Amino acid sequence: MTLLLASIQRNVGLVMAPLLIIAFALYVIFNLRRARPETGTEIELAPNRKPYYGDEDLEGPRLDRFLTYALGLLGIVAIGLPLYWLAEPGRMEGQIAALEKKFESRGEATFEENCATCHAAGAVGGVAAFVQTDPLTGDYVADRSWVAPALNNVLLRYDREEITYVLDHGRPFSPMQPWSTVGGGAMNEQQIKNIIDYLASIQISTEEARTEAREGAEATMQAYGEAGIPLSEGAAMFHNEAASGTYGCARCHTDGWSFGVPGPVGGGAFGPNLWNVDKKFASDEEFVAFLAEGCEAGMTYGVNGQCKTGQMPAFGEYYTEAQLEALVDYVKSLDGSQQVPADPAGGEE
Ligand code: HEC
Ligand code: HEC
Repeated sequence: MTLLLASIQRNVGLVMAPLLIIAFALYVIFNLRRARPETGTEIELAPNRKPYYGDEDLEGPRLDRFLTYALGLLGIVAIGLPLYWLAEPGRMEGQIAALEKKFESRGEATFEENCATCHAAGAVGGVAAFVQTDPLTGDYVADRSWVAPALNNVLLRYDREEITYVLDHGRPFSPMQPWSTVGGGAMNEQQIKNIIDYLASIQISTEEARTEAREGAEATMQAYGEAGIPLSEGAAMFHNEAASGTYGCARCHTDGWSFGVPGPVGGGAFGPNLWNVDKKFASDEEFVAFLAEGCEAGMTYGVNGQCKTGQMPAFGEYYTEAQLEALVDYVKSLDGSQQVPADPAGGEE
């Protein structure tokens, strides 16, 4: 509707402009043709010497006629201005919407060019090649692949600022590099904003995310169960990376999980060690609330807890409260003795 208004005004303008040009050309032509050659005296020719209308003409029908014209024009102004004024916000909205579309499509192009190799076209999640090295010596260990999460649900766990943080600084220990000039990449602020605009335009709903997360956890439970490694519901959610789009805790809290050679569950990687972490929370409700909300830089939680970077994601849009309670039960049980292989069928170590 707003776009329609804007395009109507443009079309009216496009019709008016040539009409005005033609009218002006006609005026010039007629004016030139009316000019007579100098034949008589200045008295006959000078326009100001020409006898003009008498009073009875000037104050009669002629005056009425001009007053009528003036009234008509006044009417046009009186109606036209408010109409213009009414349509203006719509026109502006149309312009803004058109600009936003433009930013989104630029963001999409940048994404497909730079990010889709790992996060897949449409940001549904994929894998990235990763060369594992010894963290102490830097020596080559093995070629691995690192799960690159789906991003068509990323705004359900992070806000725009937190995503900007990832794009500014990358996850340097992983194949995810910094992209903006802030962290040594090549993209400017606008390009980063465009990418996030694009991601925002393709986000799935909370309902879809919950279905994906639930089905992913069920598939995880089943796959491990079939391999003789029974997982509780909470354990399945912790390791929920079975289907594309799912997103678990192990990727950040278990060393080596993301590239297939996990250490003890919850031993800490990008996210801190979780053994006995329940001591940080006065109650299970407090723990559940923390998982639902995630971190915002500076936010305090539990006992003496304060978020540093805001990179602990929010899980309230993926899991119901009951599911988060099951997850908390599992996290509370972690003490370094648990081990869950990355591939239930035992493909890798
Ligand atoms: C070389 C592969 C690769 C490329 C290219 C890449 N990423 Fe990543 N990205 C990853 C991996 C792997 C992770 C997961 C890192 C981790 O486990 O912490 C990741 C993580 C992320 C995250 C954090 C998601 C989360 O929930 O933890 C965001 C946001 C992201 N990437 C956005 C992008 C954008 C936008 C681009 C393009 C400008 C991009 N990535 C390009 C591999 C890549
Ligand atoms: C993208 C990586 C990432 C994922 C996925 C993630 N976390 Fe975290 N988590 C972090 C980071 C980083 C911190 C530290 C937060 C800070 O200081 O800003 C953290 C902190 C925590 C803490 C507080 C630890 C402490 O000692 O205070 C708990 C508990 C926690 N995470 C549990 C979980 C659970 C349970 C899940 C899965 C539902 C999960 N995390 C998924 C990155 C992650």
